[in-house]
Amino acid sequence: MREDIKYNNIIDGDEFARAQKAADDSAGLDHTQIDTEGFYVEQQYHKYSEENHRVWKTLWYKRWDVLEKQASETYLKGLRAINLNPDRVPLLFGEVPDPYEPGKTITGINEYLRPLTGWQSRGVPGYLPAKAFFSCLSRREFPSTIVIRPEDKMDYLPEPDIFHDVFGHVPLHADPVFADFLQTYGKAALLAGPEHEEALARLFWFTVEFGLISENGNLKVYGSGTISSHSESEYALTAPEGKGGRDNGQIERRPFNLDQVINTPFEIDHFQDIVYVLDSFEQLRDAMNDYANRVLEDSNAPAGA
Ligand SMILES: [Fe+2]
Repeated sequence: MREDIKYNNIIDGDEFARAQKAADDSAGLDHTQIDTEGFYVEQQYHKYSEENHRVWKTLWYKRWDVLEKQASETYLKGLRAINLNPDRVPLLFGEVPDPYEPGKTITGINEYLRPLTGWQSRGVPGYLPAKAFFSCLSRREFPSTIVIRPEDKMDYLPEPDIFHDVFGHVPLHADPVFADFLQTYGKAALLAGPEHEEALARLFWFTVEFGLISENGNLKVYGSGTISSHSESEYALTAPEGKGGRDNGQIERRPFNLDQVINTPFEIDHFQDIVYVLDSFEQLRDAMNDYANRVLEDSNAPAGA
């Protein structure tokens, strides 16, 4: 977590250090030796402050106003399936009393998600190194940051928080096709040599983070970076088509094509000038399976071949 952002102290310092060390140490391990359990931290739900819940609620309603028009039906269906609560920071596991409404309880999203696809969201203190992250995905575990942005950083946060991770990513994990895609991504990324690193990062960026999909002839957003940002969604869906880039307020919406995606560089920290549009999530799953086969062929090839 960045020092310049003041988070509510919801993670114990020792636990934070232990989890971060386990994740960092995994970089030197063979993937078969990695135990993801060590990366996770307890979500101490009672430590979320009134401000934390208010931030969640404000972000939710700001997006919700237009999200039903902008977002993929698959995403919206997932959001309803995991019973995300608009008024409270999401609980990951179990059930707790609602801190502000006596007699009411809050149920963890994993209690709904796990029976659907076997995926679960696990609390982490912040960014995981790549190998640790891929290990989690390969086991159908999604590392979710459990801190939430402070009220004075409402509109721009340079790193993921629980709003980005849970509101943005987790609803799609309730869809069986997307669920399979993401696990295959994790497995392939773990086996992949350094020659695949860039391609896999691009595939993730142009789909999981900023992907669009055509549903019944309508353009919809599904990538987490887009879903969780009002201005990014507006831009992706309504900016005039063109190659002029963000300086001219234009965007290129290309039909999804695996080889084109993995050869497209991306830049962070500004609106995307190029986006890729899926026909369906099956198209994404099949493309991932193709890529995973390429990784397997390369990992089985004799050295120097
Ligand atoms: Fe993300």
